[in-house]
Amino acid sequence: MAARSAFRRALPWLPRSPVASSLRQAHHVPSQRPFSTSLSASTPNPSSSKDPSVPDYAIPDPSRPTHFGFQTVTEAEKRERVAGVFASVAESYDRMNDLMSFGWHRVWKDHFVASLNPGFSPLGDPPRAPQHILDIAGGTGDIAFRLLHTAHVVNGNPDVRVTMSDINRAMLTVGKHRAARQLPASQQAALSFVEANAEDLTKARPLVPYPPDHSTSPDEYTGSEQPFFDPATATTGIPDASVDLYTVAFGIRNFSNIPAALREARRVLKPGGVFACLEFSKVVSSHPAGALFDAVYKEWSFRAIPLIGQLVAADRDSYQYLVESIARFPSQDEFRDMILDAGFVVAGDGYENLTGGVAAIHKGMKPRE
Ligand SMILES: C[S@@+](CC[C@H](N)C(=O)[O-])C[C@H]1O[C@@H](n2cnc3c(N)ncnc32)[C@H](O)[C@@H]1O
Repeated sequence: MAARSAFRRALPWLPRSPVASSLRQAHHVPSQRPFSTSLSASTPNPSSSKDPSVPDYAIPDPSRPTHFGFQTVTEAEKRERVAGVFASVAESYDRMNDLMSFGWHRVWKDHFVASLNPGFSPLGDPPRAPQHILDIAGGTGDIAFRLLHTAHVVNGNPDVRVTMSDINRAMLTVGKHRAARQLPASQQAALSFVEANAEDLTKARPLVPYPPDHSTSPDEYTGSEQPFFDPATATTGIPDASVDLYTVAFGIRNFSNIPAALREARRVLKPGGVFACLEFSKVVSSHPAGALFDAVYKEWSFRAIPLIGQLVAADRDSYQYLVESIARFPSQDEFRDMILDAGFVVAGDGYENLTGGVAAIHKGMKPRE
């Protein structure tokens, strides 16, 4: 309660109630896409290609041009290069997040999860409703751990389980080791790790740790296996209508085909299930101090972050990509329109700005039909 009040003082524009309960159809006509879309999966998404209502831009095409930061590459190349970035930063990722955002990423993540209120049952008393949450691009576990804590401890609902999924085995492996160190046994038992490409969740497999021996860092590992998921090794998939809540934090801008990923989110969600995304966004420049804040933020992003990456993680290029990918990500309204195009309904504007638009939370609900 005290924490929520502190948030509210710091971020007065926070909503007062969980958005999931107030979702409604937006009076919005999806516009023609004003920005390029891109894809990367090595094979077309079968669930999408069977459906005649899926537009071409949401069907993976490995040779289609796309962007990797400010560079133009093919979709297949982007997937490999993004995998390389996250394999390279996996070990330093958590420390760098604090340095790059002055710790703000923790506040945004806390608020994101609090706004979703996992495990909460409006009926109050036990038995609580079971909930399956899919945390996509889960990385090293920041969102999955918060979801489990809120559900099991704050809301006293042990029937909430979280599947943490990522295309990058190196990031997931760091997350798995962190979970073993940081989570109580009951929360570890409710957490599973799955390798998958968000753009085609019909192909997945339980995590095979990378590198196999965690005493070696991904950078030093010289084995022949690649650090990212190969769909040819899939042993399972995420079934249709099997998920109550789909979360993705700071992951979606790295996807090669965002429309394909949004359609997969809709496929795996149950009717009434919620898609929730936390991502870097555009600073709101209509505010009197907005232009100045935007200029300072851009200076910090493009000058300081690659330098910190070089000094702390000996990896300037990966952090240069991260800031460029933030700059390339669509605006709040454009991304909201993509969510509507994928068949979700949204409440109000469909998003909430955090810290003047540096980050934003987007939510959509799969219609109950
Ligand atoms: C910036 S990290 C975010 C990790 C975590 N969600 C957090 O908030 O700390 C982005 C993650 O997206 C993952 N990713 C990139 N492309 C992906 C894809 N196509 N499918 C699934 N995960 C992907 C990366 O491997 C990386 O772990």
